[in-house]
Amino acid sequence: MRRIGVLTSGGDAPGMNAAIRAVTRCALERGWEVEGIRHGFTGLIEGEFTAHTDRSVGGIIQRGGTILGSARCPAFLTEAGRGAAIAQLEAHRIDGLVVIGGNGSQCGAFELARRGVPVVGVASTIDNDLSGTDLAIGVDSALNIALEAIDRLKTTASSHHRAFLIEVMGRECGYLALMAGLAGGAEVVLIPEVEASPEEVATRMREAYERGKAHAIAVVAEGARLGTAALVKHFHEHHAQIGFELRTTTLGHVQRGGAPLAFDRLLATRLGAGAVAAFADGTASVLVGTLSGHVARTPLADVVGRKRPIDPDLVSLARVLER
Ligand code: F6P
Repeated sequence: MRRIGVLTSGGDAPGMNAAIRAVTRCALERGWEVEGIRHGFTGLIEGEFTAHTDRSVGGIIQRGGTILGSARCPAFLTEAGRGAAIAQLEAHRIDGLVVIGGNGSQCGAFELARRGVPVVGVASTIDNDLSGTDLAIGVDSALNIALEAIDRLKTTASSHHRAFLIEVMGRECGYLALMAGLAGGAEVVLIPEVEASPEEVATRMREAYERGKAHAIAVVAEGARLGTAALVKHFHEHHAQIGFELRTTTLGHVQRGGAPLAFDRLLATRLGAGAVAAFADGTASVLVGTLSGHVARTPLADVVGRKRPIDPDLVSLARVLER
């Protein structure tokens, strides 16, 4: 190994910069060269390569987003796009590529690996739906942002005896919503993995009202089958029976922005270093994540096409604790 490339892809996540920094410095320490590739797979196809030095990754560990930029890249889904990416890697004499990102990005990494490119993935997505890691980079910071919002909304909800629907990210996975609901003391959590009807949610809200609560908080994942719009409609039609007046807040991309907390800086640093260590051991075609507290490598073949499932015990626990 003499020259590696590093890119960030898909939705950005707090901590990606810490991972770029660790990849760069650990590789330079071994005497390798490092090329930063801008704008994910788009920049790879278009040849946006820049040499990294110790200094070019200085002062970034505390910064949110990604200094390399990120993209969702439809062109990379085509054979022509993948061929162009491989040609760029060859032209820039890259003999190992680190892909920092979530599910879609690791699928892209796997496609390169299948075509003979030595690739190591680093688990990074606020959705925490990647198989091969207990926690991905960015999850903890995003969760804490959601929690701060829930705590704030709860105080104003209580003052006015209101119900709030708080929509958090998670197009296909309810991890963030479930954890934010558990840690924020929500009355209701709605996630893509679990069916719910508006009548059932309204009943649970009304029961909270009847038990004497001053508020009712429902945390709704963006991808929940019973979405925010349907719930708002139902609440407005049945306001008198539910007791609470309803307000909604969508947190959206606020959860992805901002500085990474200590946990994500450290996780990203360990996983970035782990990616370089994998190459140094002659290992590729793996995702570097954390399993049972240890940096672990999982074959990309076992990661793609799978999703980290929601823990059903935590779904049940959230129901118990909403009393
Ligand atoms: O990063 C993952 C994710 O946050 C999903 O939860 C969300 O649906 C999606 O990204 C939004 O992505 P975009 O940046 O393309 O709007």
